[in-house]
Amino acid sequence: MVEHLVIAIDGPAASGKSSVARALARRLGFVYVNTGAMYRAITWLAVSKGVPTADANRVHQLLHFTDIVCGVAEGQSTILLDGLDPEPHLVSDEVNANVSAIATIPEVRRILVAKQRAYARDHDIVMEGRDIGSAVFPETPYKFYVDASPEVRARRRAAQGLTDSVATRDKVDSTRRTSPLIIAEDAHVIDSSNLTVDGVAGEIVGRLKLKGLKLVEEGKGGGMKYEV
Ligand code: DC
Repeated sequence: MVEHLVIAIDGPAASGKSSVARALARRLGFVYVNTGAMYRAITWLAVSKGVPTADANRVHQLLHFTDIVCGVAEGQSTILLDGLDPEPHLVSDEVNANVSAIATIPEVRRILVAKQRAYARDHDIVMEGRDIGSAVFPETPYKFYVDASPEVRARRRAAQGLTDSVATRDKVDSTRRTSPLIIAEDAHVIDSSNLTVDGVAGEIVGRLKLKGLKLVEEGKGGGMKYEV
């Protein structure tokens, strides 16, 4: 059961969904939850401890003995592993190369999905990932799938100074057995190839209003609040 509002934003790597989710959360005053960062954090943990990411049993065992604490700071999700903040390592080449393998392990997903659902107990959230609308919060009426052409996605990654092979990751993410990247049946699909971050966020706000969410502008800063 969803106690708070959940806006689910899914899509492939470098589709622009993170920037959109962050901007939307700020505009609505919701907490922004980046689930990719959670899978990346676990990947960093395994890599830094020398645990092979293809060895599901050893990864599972590692998680069993690790204190994973998810929280919120300055309106965004945070994760600490045995008290350590993995943030500086999340987009390293090693993490990019191994995160899809980690995300195929059902036990990893089970543990992280429970933590993702827990966010909605205390906060209205904008959560982005691959399976948020299809598996984590299938009951939310507010589901979006943000896509962009392969050329635009490769360009966006390069502009971030990253050489991540998004095509390889997308293939693994879309074909894995547990909660693959799919477009949820009732998701609203947005092609962000020719849109700005604000353009996509604006389209989502328009759609939320159409769905009956009573969003009202607050002052001139672009902020909004919703009325029940
Ligand atoms: O959003 P991102 O590119 O930072 O995500 C990194 C990887 O994590 C992605 O390749 C697949 C995995 N992931 C997932 O399986 N499910 C999610 N909800 C979010 C990310």
